[in-house]
Amino acid sequence: MTESSRPSNSAPIGVFDSGIGGLTVVSELRRALPLERILYVGDTARVPYGGKSAETVTRYSREISDLLIAEGAKMIVVACNTASALAVPSIAPNYLVPMVGVLEPGAAAAVKATRSGRIGVIGTRATIASEAYTKAIQRRDPELSVHAIACPLLVPLIEEGLLDDEITEAILRRYLMPMLAEGIDTLVLGCTHYPLLKGVIARICGPEVSLVDSAENCALAVKGLLDSDPATELSPRLDILLTDSSEGFLRIAEKSLDLTIDSLSVRRVGN
Ligand code: DGL
Repeated sequence: MTESSRPSNSAPIGVFDSGIGGLTVVSELRRALPLERILYVGDTARVPYGGKSAETVTRYSREISDLLIAEGAKMIVVACNTASALAVPSIAPNYLVPMVGVLEPGAAAAVKATRSGRIGVIGTRATIASEAYTKAIQRRDPELSVHAIACPLLVPLIEEGLLDDEITEAILRRYLMPMLAEGIDTLVLGCTHYPLLKGVIARICGPEVSLVDSAENCALAVKGLLDSDPATELSPRLDILLTDSSEGFLRIAEKSLDLTIDSLSVRRVGN
């Protein structure tokens, strides 16, 4: 990339996820970097990613990243654990702008938080089957034990807006109880949708268990990267592109995450 083709520091940070989950990352980015423009793509036509193959998730991630680059993004934040686990290692070298996933920052924060050495991880089927969190945690400290379980029912409940609902709580208990019986003291919310259930999860786990929010840790990693070249114009914006119309999207974004959206449009991607 030549100096003249490099996106300027006022270019947007590109962020994507399969649906609304990545907005938890946007909300943390807003807090950490209030002056930045953010362009968010929610692949609502193809959500959820969590039950799909590595090949499919990689293709979707490449298509959305290409769209963000075409829109002038200065960096790509993969606000999706599934895509971070399955696609980022193979596609990141193809882009000239930095690509930041959520997985490594989350694993680093979990290693820092644990005292007992027993860490729980919850995520989509694909994220858990990839063992990406277990590997990233044990690469940092091979002595740590990791109890990872897939929670495939949670993303559909969240996309439906059932955030504070007895059905969601009952399902969470079913997923979390065996892990709590193993004595974990740290739980990684290994899907960017899950911070929307943080209150219920904290209630079930109790105060002895630290919750590691991959959204929060990813935003801190992005801030670290941008600190030497931050946006200087006072024109922060949040523009959203969805790959299909989605009724619940705006409601959850504005109500649960208190985000102000400057524009929302639908753009078809892929075949
Ligand atoms: N929010 C995403 C993740 O962090 C994707 C969930 C899904 O689409 O299944 O894994």
